[in-house]
Amino acid sequence: MTIKNQKEILISKLSKVSDSPAFEANELLAFATGCDKATLALKQREELSKAQQKRLNTCLKKRIKGLPLQYIIGEWEFYSLPFKVGRGVLIPRADSELLVDLALKALSSNTKSTLFDLCSGSGALGIAVAKNQPNVSVTLVEKSRKAFKYLRQNISLNAANLTAVRADIFKWKPECLADIVICNPPYITKKEMLSLQKEVKNEPTAALCGGEDGLKFYRFIINNANRFLKPNGKMLFEIGYTQANDVAELFKAANFKQIEVEKDLSGNDRVVSARVSS
Ligand SMILES: C[S@@+](CC[C@H](N)C(=O)[O-])C[C@H]1O[C@@H](n2cnc3c(N)ncnc32)[C@H](O)[C@@H]1O
Repeated sequence: MTIKNQKEILISKLSKVSDSPAFEANELLAFATGCDKATLALKQREELSKAQQKRLNTCLKKRIKGLPLQYIIGEWEFYSLPFKVGRGVLIPRADSELLVDLALKALSSNTKSTLFDLCSGSGALGIAVAKNQPNVSVTLVEKSRKAFKYLRQNISLNAANLTAVRADIFKWKPECLADIVICNPPYITKKEMLSLQKEVKNEPTAALCGGEDGLKFYRFIINNANRFLKPNGKMLFEIGYTQANDVAELFKAANFKQIEVEKDLSGNDRVVSARVSS
Protein backbone atom coordinates (compact mmCIF):
# COMPACT_ATOMS: atom_id res chain seq x y z
CA MET A 1 0.00 0.00 0.00
CA THR A 2 1.32 3.48 -0.87
CA ILE A 3 1.97 6.15 1.74
CA LYS A 4 -0.86 8.20 0.22
CA ASN A 5 -3.38 5.33 0.66
CA GLN A 6 -2.04 4.58 4.11
CA LYS A 7 -2.57 8.20 5.06
CA GLU A 8 -6.23 8.10 4.00
CA ILE A 9 -6.84 5.02 6.16
CA LEU A 10 -5.04 6.62 9.10
CA ILE A 11 -7.09 9.81 8.83
CA SER A 12 -10.31 7.84 8.90
CA LYS A 13 -9.23 5.81 11.97
CA LEU A 14 -7.74 8.79 13.82
CA SER A 15 -10.86 10.91 13.28
CA LYS A 16 -12.52 8.78 15.99
CA VAL A 17 -10.01 9.96 18.63
CA SER A 18 -8.57 13.24 17.32
CA ASP A 19 -9.72 16.74 16.35
CA SER A 20 -6.85 16.99 13.85
CA PRO A 21 -6.62 13.55 12.20
CA ALA A 22 -4.77 14.72 9.04
CA PHE A 23 -2.08 16.42 11.11
CA GLU A 24 -1.68 13.37 13.36
CA ALA A 25 -1.61 10.97 10.38
CA ASN A 26 1.26 12.95 8.90
CA GLU A 27 3.15 13.00 12.23
CA LEU A 28 2.75 9.23 12.71
CA LEU A 29 3.79 8.46 9.12
CA ALA A 30 6.87 10.66 9.49
CA PHE A 31 7.72 8.88 12.75
CA ALA A 32 7.13 5.36 11.39
CA THR A 33 9.15 5.97 8.22
CA GLY A 34 11.88 8.03 9.90
CA CYS A 35 11.42 10.76 7.25
CA ASP A 36 10.94 14.44 7.90
CA LYS A 37 7.60 15.81 6.70
CA ALA A 38 9.00 17.52 3.60
CA THR A 39 10.59 14.24 2.41
CA LEU A 40 7.42 12.33 3.25
CA ALA A 41 5.41 14.66 0.98
CA LEU A 42 7.68 13.65 -1.92
CA LYS A 43 7.27 9.92 -1.23
CA GLN A 44 3.47 9.67 -1.41
CA ARG A 45 3.56 6.98 -4.12
CA GLU A 46 6.13 4.82 -2.37
CA GLU A 47 5.18 1.72 -0.35
CA LEU A 48 5.89 1.28 3.34
CA SER A 49 8.36 -1.47 4.22
CA LYS A 50 7.12 -4.32 6.47
CA ALA A 51 9.02 -2.88 9.42
CA GLN A 52 7.58 0.60 8.85
CA GLN A 53 4.06 -0.83 8.56
CA LYS A 54 4.50 -2.73 11.82
CA ARG A 55 5.79 0.37 13.58
CA LEU A 56 2.87 2.40 12.26
CA ASN A 57 0.31 -0.19 13.42
CA THR A 58 1.82 -0.21 16.92
CA CYS A 59 1.66 3.60 17.08
CA LEU A 60 -1.93 3.64 15.84
CA LYS A 61 -3.02 1.10 18.45
CA LYS A 62 -1.49 3.22 21.23
CA ARG A 63 -3.08 6.40 19.84
CA ILE A 64 -6.53 4.79 19.60
CA LYS A 65 -6.20 3.70 23.23
CA GLY A 66 -5.82 7.41 24.09
CA LEU A 67 -2.04 7.80 24.50
CA PRO A 68 -1.14 11.37 23.43
CA LEU A 69 0.55 11.65 20.02
CA GLN A 70 3.52 13.43 21.62
CA TYR A 71 4.25 10.49 23.97
CA ILE A 72 4.17 8.09 21.02
CA ILE A 73 6.60 10.19 18.99
CA GLY A 74 8.70 10.91 22.10
CA GLU A 75 9.68 14.43 21.10
CA TRP A 76 7.79 17.70 20.69
CA GLU A 77 8.65 21.20 19.56
CA PHE A 78 8.30 24.23 21.82
CA TYR A 79 9.56 27.71 20.94
CA SER A 80 11.19 26.14 17.85
CA LEU A 81 13.30 23.86 20.08
CA PRO A 82 13.05 20.05 20.45
CA PHE A 83 11.95 18.51 23.78
CA LYS A 84 11.93 14.85 24.76
CA VAL A 85 8.60 13.84 26.30
CA GLY A 86 6.99 10.65 27.56
CA ARG A 87 4.96 9.22 30.42
CA GLY A 88 5.60 11.19 33.60
CA VAL A 89 6.22 14.62 32.10
CA LEU A 90 3.79 17.31 30.94
CA ILE A 91 3.79 17.92 27.18
CA PRO A 92 4.82 21.56 26.60
CA ARG A 93 1.84 23.52 25.24
CA ALA A 94 1.98 26.18 22.52
CA ASP A 95 -0.04 28.49 24.83
CA SER A 96 2.94 28.59 27.21
CA GLU A 97 5.11 30.33 24.59
CA LEU A 98 3.49 33.60 25.73
CA LEU A 99 5.11 33.20 29.15
CA VAL A 100 8.53 32.84 27.47
CA ASP A 101 7.88 35.92 25.28
CA LEU A 102 6.98 37.98 28.35
CA ALA A 103 9.95 36.74 30.39
CA LEU A 104 12.32 37.63 27.53
CA LYS A 105 10.72 41.08 27.30
CA ALA A 106 11.20 41.62 31.03
CA LEU A 107 14.91 40.66 30.87
CA SER A 108 17.38 43.31 29.85
CA SER A 109 19.89 42.09 27.24
CA ASN A 110 22.65 44.29 28.73
CA THR A 111 22.67 43.26 32.36
CA LYS A 112 23.29 39.84 33.82
CA SER A 113 20.18 38.55 35.53
CA THR A 114 18.92 35.48 37.33
CA LEU A 115 15.71 33.62 36.52
CA PHE A 116 14.02 30.71 38.31
CA ASP A 117 11.64 28.43 36.42
CA LEU A 118 9.66 26.77 39.22
CA CYS A 119 7.76 23.53 38.47
CA SER A 120 9.79 23.23 35.29
CA GLY A 121 8.66 19.80 34.01
CA SER A 122 10.39 19.09 30.66
CA GLY A 123 12.31 22.37 31.10
CA ALA A 124 10.57 23.90 28.09
CA LEU A 125 10.09 27.39 29.55
CA GLY A 126 13.47 27.87 31.23
CA ILE A 127 15.42 26.30 28.37
CA ALA A 128 13.62 28.50 25.81
CA VAL A 129 14.51 31.60 27.86
CA ALA A 130 18.15 30.52 28.29
CA LYS A 131 18.56 29.77 24.56
CA ASN A 132 17.22 33.21 23.64
CA GLN A 133 18.93 35.35 26.27
CA PRO A 134 22.55 34.36 26.96
CA ASN A 135 22.92 36.95 29.72
CA VAL A 136 20.50 35.22 32.04
CA SER A 137 21.46 32.58 34.53
CA VAL A 138 18.54 30.12 34.68
CA THR A 139 17.72 27.66 37.48
CA LEU A 140 15.00 25.05 36.91
CA VAL A 141 13.26 23.40 39.84
CA GLU A 142 11.24 20.19 39.46
CA LYS A 143 10.07 17.68 42.07
CA SER A 144 9.09 14.61 40.04
CA ARG A 145 11.83 12.03 39.47
CA LYS A 146 10.36 11.01 36.10
CA ALA A 147 9.96 14.60 34.86
CA PHE A 148 13.48 15.43 36.09
CA LYS A 149 14.90 12.68 33.88
CA TYR A 150 13.37 14.38 30.82
CA LEU A 151 14.49 17.78 32.08
CA ARG A 152 18.13 16.66 32.13
CA GLN A 153 17.83 15.07 28.67
CA ASN A 154 16.37 18.30 27.32
CA ILE A 155 19.16 20.40 28.78
CA SER A 156 21.70 18.17 26.96
CA LEU A 157 19.62 18.00 23.77
CA ASN A 158 19.47 21.79 23.57
CA ALA A 159 23.03 22.32 24.83
CA ALA A 160 21.63 24.85 27.25
CA ASN A 161 23.79 26.23 30.03
CA LEU A 162 21.59 26.19 33.12
CA THR A 163 21.15 24.65 36.54
CA ALA A 164 18.59 21.94 37.27
CA VAL A 165 17.54 21.23 40.85
CA ARG A 166 15.35 18.32 41.84
CA ALA A 167 13.36 19.74 44.74
CA ASP A 168 9.93 20.44 46.16
CA ILE A 169 9.31 24.17 45.71
CA PHE A 170 7.43 24.24 49.03
CA LYS A 171 10.72 23.33 50.75
CA TRP A 172 13.44 24.53 48.36
CA LYS A 173 15.78 27.23 49.68
CA PRO A 174 17.69 28.88 46.81
CA GLU A 175 21.29 29.99 47.31
CA CYS A 176 20.54 33.42 45.81
CA LEU A 177 17.47 35.44 44.85
CA ALA A 178 16.15 35.87 41.31
CA ASP A 179 15.34 38.95 39.26
CA ILE A 180 12.54 37.02 37.59
CA VAL A 181 10.48 33.97 38.56
CA ILE A 182 8.44 32.17 35.94
CA CYS A 183 6.11 29.33 36.77
CA ASN A 184 3.50 27.22 35.04
CA PRO A 185 2.33 25.27 38.09
CA PRO A 186 -0.30 22.56 38.37
CA TYR A 187 -3.50 24.64 38.39
CA ILE A 188 -6.50 22.39 37.71
CA THR A 189 -8.99 22.08 40.57
CA LYS A 190 -9.72 18.68 42.09
CA LYS A 191 -13.23 18.82 40.66
CA GLU A 192 -12.03 19.69 37.13
CA MET A 193 -9.59 16.75 37.28
CA LEU A 194 -12.60 14.41 37.07
CA SER A 195 -13.69 15.71 33.66
CA LEU A 196 -10.38 15.86 31.78
CA GLN A 197 -9.99 14.59 28.18
CA LYS A 198 -8.71 11.02 27.82
CA GLU A 199 -5.32 12.20 26.47
CA VAL A 200 -4.77 14.68 29.32
CA LYS A 201 -5.59 11.93 31.85
CA ASN A 202 -2.47 10.16 30.56
CA GLU A 203 -0.35 13.07 31.78
CA PRO A 204 0.79 12.99 35.42
CA THR A 205 -1.74 14.14 38.04
CA ALA A 206 1.06 15.86 39.97
CA ALA A 207 1.65 18.08 36.92
CA LEU A 208 -1.99 19.08 36.68
CA CYS A 209 -3.77 19.28 40.03
CA GLY A 210 -3.37 22.53 41.94
CA GLY A 211 -5.37 21.47 44.99
CA GLU A 212 -9.00 22.03 45.97
CA ASP A 213 -9.32 25.47 44.30
CA GLY A 214 -6.39 25.16 41.83
CA LEU A 215 -4.56 28.04 43.51
CA LYS A 216 -2.31 26.17 45.95
CA PHE A 217 0.95 26.90 44.07
CA TYR A 218 0.15 30.54 43.25
CA ARG A 219 -0.82 31.22 46.87
CA PHE A 220 2.38 29.69 48.27
CA ILE A 221 4.79 31.29 45.78
CA ILE A 222 3.20 34.76 46.05
CA ASN A 223 3.01 34.67 49.85
CA ASN A 224 6.63 33.49 50.04
CA ALA A 225 7.99 35.75 47.29
CA ASN A 226 10.88 36.93 49.46
CA ARG A 227 12.25 33.36 49.43
CA PHE A 228 12.64 33.53 45.66
CA LEU A 229 12.72 37.12 44.39
CA LYS A 230 14.96 40.16 44.85
CA PRO A 231 13.28 43.43 45.89
CA ASN A 232 11.58 44.84 42.77
CA GLY A 233 11.82 41.41 41.13
CA LYS A 234 9.11 40.24 38.75
CA MET A 235 6.94 37.12 38.93
CA LEU A 236 5.14 35.72 35.87
CA PHE A 237 2.61 32.90 36.14
CA GLU A 238 0.82 30.91 33.50
CA ILE A 239 -2.80 30.51 34.62
CA GLY A 240 -5.95 28.61 33.68
CA TYR A 241 -8.16 30.94 31.64
CA THR A 242 -10.62 31.51 34.50
CA GLN A 243 -8.00 32.23 37.16
CA ALA A 244 -6.79 35.77 36.28
CA ASN A 245 -8.89 37.56 38.92
CA ASP A 246 -8.04 35.08 41.67
CA VAL A 247 -4.30 35.28 40.99
CA ALA A 248 -4.40 39.09 40.63
CA GLU A 249 -6.19 39.25 44.02
CA LEU A 250 -3.44 37.12 45.59
CA PHE A 251 -0.83 39.54 44.20
CA LYS A 252 -2.82 42.55 45.49
CA ALA A 253 -3.19 41.07 48.95
CA ALA A 254 0.59 40.50 49.09
CA ASN A 255 1.26 44.17 48.10
CA PHE A 256 2.70 43.45 44.66
CA LYS A 257 2.63 46.30 42.11
CA GLN A 258 2.24 46.52 38.30
CA ILE A 259 -0.22 43.62 38.20
CA GLU A 260 -0.90 42.73 34.55
CA VAL A 261 -2.98 40.08 32.78
CA GLU A 262 -2.00 38.99 29.25
CA LYS A 263 -4.12 37.03 26.78
CA ASP A 264 -2.96 34.16 24.56
CA LEU A 265 -3.56 33.94 20.79
CA SER A 266 -7.04 32.48 21.38
CA GLY A 267 -7.98 35.57 23.40
CA ASN A 268 -7.96 33.74 26.76
CA ASP A 269 -6.31 35.17 29.90
CA ARG A 270 -3.06 33.19 30.07
CA VAL A 271 -0.38 35.03 32.10
CA VAL A 272 -0.56 37.17 35.23
CA SER A 273 2.56 39.08 36.23
CA ALA A 274 3.50 41.53 38.99
CA ARG A 275 6.48 43.10 40.73
CA VAL A 276 7.43 42.85 44.37
CA SER A 277 7.25 46.22 46.11
CA SER A 278 10.81 47.34 46.86
C1 LIG B 1 1.85 22.18 34.73
S1 LIG B 1 3.36 21.30 34.81
C2 LIG B 1 4.39 22.49 33.98
C3 LIG B 1 5.62 21.95 33.36
C4 LIG B 1 6.39 22.96 32.51
N1 LIG B 1 6.71 24.14 33.27
C5 LIG B 1 5.64 23.34 31.28
O1 LIG B 1 5.13 24.47 31.20
O2 LIG B 1 5.55 22.51 30.36
C6 LIG B 1 3.79 21.45 36.50
C7 LIG B 1 5.06 20.76 36.95
O3 LIG B 1 5.22 20.97 38.36
C8 LIG B 1 5.81 19.85 38.94
N2 LIG B 1 5.55 19.89 40.39
C9 LIG B 1 4.41 19.53 41.05
N3 LIG B 1 4.54 19.75 42.37
C10 LIG B 1 5.79 20.27 42.55
C11 LIG B 1 6.50 20.72 43.70
N4 LIG B 1 5.94 20.67 44.91
N5 LIG B 1 7.75 21.19 43.54
C12 LIG B 1 8.32 21.24 42.28
N6 LIG B 1 7.69 20.83 41.16
C13 LIG B 1 6.43 20.38 41.28
C14 LIG B 1 5.14 18.69 38.22
O4 LIG B 1 5.88 17.51 38.36
C15 LIG B 1 5.10 19.24 36.79
O5 LIG B 1 6.27 18.88 36.09
